[in-house]
Amino acid sequence: MRLSIYPPITNASGPNSVTREELERLAQSASGAVVTKSMTHCPRAGNPEPRLRERLPNNIGSLNSMGLPNLGYHQYAQIISHLKERYRKPLIASIASAPCPHRLDPIEQYREIATALEESGADALELNLSCPNLEEVPIAMDPQSVRHVLKAVTREVKIPVGVKLPPYNNTPKLFEEIARILLEFEIAYVATINSEPLTLDIDVKTRTKVIRPNDGFGGLGGPAVLPIALAEVHRFYRFFQKHRARIAVWGVGGIVTAEDAIKHFLAGASVIQIGTLYLWEGPAAFARLWAGVQEWLHANGYNSVEELVGTVKDL
Ligand code: SIN
Repeated sequence: MRLSIYPPITNASGPNSVTREELERLAQSASGAVVTKSMTHCPRAGNPEPRLRERLPNNIGSLNSMGLPNLGYHQYAQIISHLKERYRKPLIASIASAPCPHRLDPIEQYREIATALEESGADALELNLSCPNLEEVPIAMDPQSVRHVLKAVTREVKIPVGVKLPPYNNTPKLFEEIARILLEFEIAYVATINSEPLTLDIDVKTRTKVIRPNDGFGGLGGPAVLPIALAEVHRFYRFFQKHRARIAVWGVGGIVTAEDAIKHFLAGASVIQIGTLYLWEGPAAFARLWAGVQEWLHANGYNSVEELVGTVKDL
């Protein structure tokens, strides 16, 4: 099922997309869609502070171990109904699972939240299978669990379903296994990558780690992960082309300049998302990036982003 996003730039689920006010700000911005923070069955306070270092030295990126702080899906269902009445842009509900007092298993959590958010008027769902900051191993690392979640959700809802995946880095067999499972379902898009897991920074003045949870280890986003994101976008794009799958690839990771965005499109992304950049620059980033992308297209003889998608040449 196709999902049309224009301009093809949205926020990445996470940064400043938790509260009603933050989501309203996104709805009023030049973002092509609003993507919520990943919502869980129960509200969550998240991990202990400090859990986010917004800017690492030399502007290489951001480091977080937020632990999915969010209002719980009942609240987001109400917020989405409200935004739906006031704004016309696509509203994408990001969904995650986490241990919860109701003791529902993860598959049941995804299914229940997905059904409720479809009823609330969400235009699409983004299944976050890749949060690196919980004690549990992310579902995206276990092919059978990925299959079970996708089966449970896609047979329940009619709106487009996207999947947010981690970088598979140097695990080509796992990458291939997951990509093949995606072919079994009607998936609208793959958003890749979530933050690079298990990364660490140290403040040499205080000689401490820069975030507290999980022994200081967290997910890295921002410029440092651009080449990792491009590689994941490109291999998913090539895989889907080879198998004639109509699954779009949405590029997430390391985009700061219009040139970074163009690289994602060349690698195979048809939509891009910004996370760390949105933290750094706020809503102004959408219009700046889109103007830069359009300028580049014009200067290089392209009429649209679609003409560019996946056209990177081998050397
Ligand atoms: C978090 O809340 O820990 C970040 C969410 C994610 O990266 O999936």
